[in-house]
Amino acid sequence: MIQTQLSSAEIIAIEDKYNAHNYHPLPVVLAKGEGVYVWDVDGKQYYDFLSAYSAVNQGHCHPKIIQALTEQANILTLTSRAFYNNVLGEFAQYITQYFGYERVLPMNTGVEGGETANKLCRKWAYQVKGVPQNEAIILFAENNFWGRTLAAVSSSSDPVAKNDFGPYLPGYQLIPYNDLNALEEALKNPNVAGFMVEPIQGEAGVVVPDDGYLKKAYNMCKANNVLFIADEVQTGLARTGKMLACDYEDFQPDILILGKALSGGVLPVSAVLANNEIMGILKPGEHGSTYGGNPLSCKVAIAALEVLREENLSENAFRLGEIFRERMNQMIAKTDLVKLVRGKGLLNAIIINDSPDSQTAWNLCLALKENGLLAKPTHGNIIRFAPPLVMTEAQLHECADIIEKTVLEFKK
Ligand SMILES: Cc1ncc(COP(=O)(O)O)c(C=O)c1O
Repeated sequence: MIQTQLSSAEIIAIEDKYNAHNYHPLPVVLAKGEGVYVWDVDGKQYYDFLSAYSAVNQGHCHPKIIQALTEQANILTLTSRAFYNNVLGEFAQYITQYFGYERVLPMNTGVEGGETANKLCRKWAYQVKGVPQNEAIILFAENNFWGRTLAAVSSSSDPVAKNDFGPYLPGYQLIPYNDLNALEEALKNPNVAGFMVEPIQGEAGVVVPDDGYLKKAYNMCKANNVLFIADEVQTGLARTGKMLACDYEDFQPDILILGKALSGGVLPVSAVLANNEIMGILKPGEHGSTYGGNPLSCKVAIAALEVLREENLSENAFRLGEIFRERMNQMIAKTDLVKLVRGKGLLNAIIINDSPDSQTAWNLCLALKENGLLAKPTHGNIIRFAPPLVMTEAQLHECADIIEKTVLEFKK
C-alpha cells in the first residue's frame, strides 16, 4: 500500500488505529517541508509556526544540513563508542569552542541531555561538593518541562505527565519559577547540588522571567556551591534572538543542555557541555548511549551550527521577534479574544482570553490551519508561535496578517 495515495482522513484513521494515542495532533497530514513552509498530502501549503517545537530553527530540509547528512550517510553512520570514529573529535572540538566549554557529552534526545546533566550533577555532589551518599537534591522550577522519562516526570509538577507513573525518583525539589526568595530559601539546604532551569519556560506557555532573574539565580548558586544547569533545549540555538537565552544576561551556566535544533530537525542530537571540573568526573561505563556521538549526527550537528552563524539567525530572530510582538499588540488592541503576547526573539505565545479548559485555542488553531498557518495550543488557552528562523520580514508580515485576519474573524 502506498501511503501517499490515501486521503488525509484515511491516513489519520490508520495512525489512530495502530499508533499509541500519546499525542493529540492537529488534523493535518504533512508530506513535505522546505524552509518556512510545509505541504499537506493534498499539496496545500502552510507556514510552519511550530518548527517541531523549535527543532527546525534552520528551516525544513536546509540544503547544507541535508548535504552533510547524505554525504556522511554514504560513508559511515554508526560505530558505537566501542571504537573511535573520525568525526566525533571534530564535532567535540567544534561545539566546545563554539560555546566556550572544555568538554561535551553527546546524546540523542533532549530528555537524554537532561538525564545526563542530572547524573553529572549528582556525581559532582558526592565526589566534589561532599554531599552524603544518596542525599543530593536538584532544584527545579514548577511547571518545568524537560521530557517524560521517569526522572523528568519525577521532577515535574504537571499531573498529566506524572499521574500513575509513580513511584517517583527521590532527590528533586520544586520551587516557584522566577522567584529568587524561594531559591534563596531552598539553597539553605547544604545537600542541594544543582538548579536546573529553562531560561524561558517553553512548554509551560513561553513564560519569560523578569530581567536579571537568571543571572541573580546563577550568582546565588555560585555563592552556595550549587551547579546552575541551563536547559536550553528549546530556547537555545538562536531561537530567542541570541545564540543562547542565557546570553541576554551574560553568564555561562555550569552545565548547558542543547538538543532539538542541534540537528536542524534532521536527527535526534543532543549535547551536554561543561568544564573539566564537572565533566572530568565521568569514567568509562558510567554513562553513554549506542547512538550518542555517531558520525552521522556529528556531521549534521556541525552543519546545523554553521548555518546558525552563517545566516545570522540569532539577529534575524531578534529583529523579527520585535516586529512580531508589535504586530500582535496592534491586533490585541482590536479584539477581546487575545489578551497578551509574550516572548523573546521568535519564541512567542498569545494568551487567549478564555479558561484553560475551553476549546477556544484549539478551534483558533484549526482556523489558522484553514488560512495556511500551523500552530498548536499549549496548556489549553495559550498558542505558541515559533516559526523557522530563516523567515524573511515580508513572510513574517504575511503570517501576522493571517493571524490577525483569523483572530478578528473568529467566532467562538
Ligand atoms: C526545555 C526542554 N527540555 C527538554 C525537552 C525534551 O526534548 P526531547 O523531546 O528531544 O527529548 C524539551 C522538549 O520539548 C524541552 O522543551
